[in-house]
Amino acid sequence: MKTLIACYSHTGKTLTVSEKLQEQIKADMTRIEPVKDRWYVIKAIHAYLEKKWPIKPCITDIDDYDCLIVCSPIWAGRTTPGVIQYLEELENTSGKKFAVLVTMGGDGSELATIQLRNGLEAKGMEFVDKLVINGSAQKSGEWEAITKNFAQKFME
Ligand SMILES: Cc1cc2nc3c(=O)[nH]c(=O)nc-3n(C[C@H](O)[C@H](O)[C@H](O)COP(=O)(O)O)c2cc1C
Repeated sequence: MKTLIACYSHTGKTLTVSEKLQEQIKADMTRIEPVKDRWYVIKAIHAYLEKKWPIKPCITDIDDYDCLIVCSPIWAGRTTPGVIQYLEELENTSGKKFAVLVTMGGDGSELATIQLRNGLEAKGMEFVDKLVINGSAQKSGEWEAITKNFAQKFME
């Protein structure tokens, strides 16, 4: 499966997991980068309100790929404004497979993964799986084994 990993990471944790996944499945990666950064509280409020932030150019046309993995940290229980903008800019999505990968400091990602899943299914894409790396999996190092296991699904 030719796979594109689209990763937003503010402090590098989601990027570390995404790079491990990329190494396993030999995928391409594109970075989702907001045009400007905002204060912590603005980040949390905008995420909570599901606002969109303009992003720098990155790969949004996925015609060449079979599968897209969208990677995001959790802010205020949700995905981030740059990632919501990315979903809106995606092109040639119909019939393509997708997965979501989220990292968080605490636990409880259900809302964010549902939010991402709904956004991508609305673009005619087909859900494969989700990977949730919580704070304890990050601290214990368990994230690495969980990520390798998740990668299997994209290695056919
Ligand atoms: C504005 C903001 C809000 C956050 N909200 C949550 C949250 O609601 N729940 C949680 O578990 N972690 C929360 N976090 C922690 C991040 O999700 C966590 O540190 C994540 O792994 C960071 O990924 P990154 O290094 O790729 O940016 C928040 C972090 C920021 C900056």
